[in-house]
Amino acid sequence: MVHAKYMKVRLNSLHPSVPVPFDIYVKINDRYILYLRAGDSMEADKIQSFEVKAPDSFFIHDNLYEVYKKHISDQMHSDQLTSRDKAIILRESSLALVEELYENPDIDQALNQSKEIINEFISFMDEDPDAMGHLIGLSSHDFYTYNHSLDVGIYSLGLGYVVGYKDAELKELGQGALFHDIGKRHVDVNIICKDGPLDDSEWAQMQQHPQFGLLILNRHQVSDAIKACAFEHHESFTGNGYPQQLAGNEIHPMARIVAITDTYDALTTKRSYNDPMTPTDALKFMDEKLRSRYDSSLMDAMNDVLFKMAEAKKNESA
Ligand SMILES: [Fe+2]
Ligand SMILES: [Fe+2]
Repeated sequence: MVHAKYMKVRLNSLHPSVPVPFDIYVKINDRYILYLRAGDSMEADKIQSFEVKAPDSFFIHDNLYEVYKKHISDQMHSDQLTSRDKAIILRESSLALVEELYENPDIDQALNQSKEIINEFISFMDEDPDAMGHLIGLSSHDFYTYNHSLDVGIYSLGLGYVVGYKDAELKELGQGALFHDIGKRHVDVNIICKDGPLDDSEWAQMQQHPQFGLLILNRHQVSDAIKACAFEHHESFTGNGYPQQLAGNEIHPMARIVAITDTYDALTTKRSYNDPMTPTDALKFMDEKLRSRYDSSLMDAMNDVLFKMAEAKKNESA
C-alpha cells in the first residue's frame, strides 16, 4: 500500500520534451528520494530503461494530483505531440488510477475517479480520428487485473463507438467495462495470480466473481447497466454461460459488448501458460470457434474496431 502522502506516476505518462511541473521521487527501500526537480524534463532513454526495470517506483506528492491532471490534460491538447504520443500518455496516466480502482478500499472514490478516466478517453476519441486505433494498438500484453480492466474499457468504448453509443451511454459502458471484474477483489489472490490452469475448486471460486461484483456494486450508487457488465459478462448467447445461464437478448447489451472485449483481451494477452494470439488471429478464432456465444452484430462491429487500429498505424507512418 502506497504511503498516504505520495501517489504513483508512470513515467511514460510524461513526454520527454515537456518540462515536468512537479518534483518526482523514486521509492527505494520504502524511502522516497527526490529524483527530478520541477521544471526539468525526463530524458527519453531514461524513461525507457526505467519503464522496463522499475515501472512502479516513481511518485509525486499526492497533494499535487490536480497539478498532475492539468499537466496530462495540457499534453493531451498540445499541438506538438502526435496522436500516438497522446495515446501513450493517456493510457499510462490512467493505469495507476485503474490499479487504484482495484486496491482502493473507498469504492465510491474509485467510481468517481473512473468517471474522469472514461471522460478523458471519450474526449480524445471525439477529438482525434486516430485516437481509438492508437489506444487499441497500445494495449498491454501482460496480464494484471488492472491492465486487463483498462484494455477491456478501451476496447468496449471502441466497440460502443462503432455501434453508435453516445454521451451518457458511452460513459456508462466505459465505467461498466472498467469495473467488470471488480468481484475479483473477493477471489483469493493466489487463484488470481496462479501460474497455470485452475483446479476444480479454484475454478468454482473464480466463477463466483460476477456475483461478488454484483454484491459490491449493489452497495453503491451505480446504474443497472454497470451492474449488468459485472454480473452478466460471462453469460453466453446460447444460454450456457454463468452465473444465470441467460440467453440471447436476456443479456444486457452492454454486458454483450464486455463479453466480446473480455475474451478478445484474454486471447491477445500473455499468460504464463500460453502465448498471446495476434489481434487478427484472436478475432478469427472467436469468429470461427466461439461465434455462437456472442451477439452476431457486435462480432461484426469488432472487425471494424480492429480496422481502426490498422488505419491509425498506416496514418502514423504516412
Ligand atoms: Fe470476468
Ligand atoms: Fe475480465
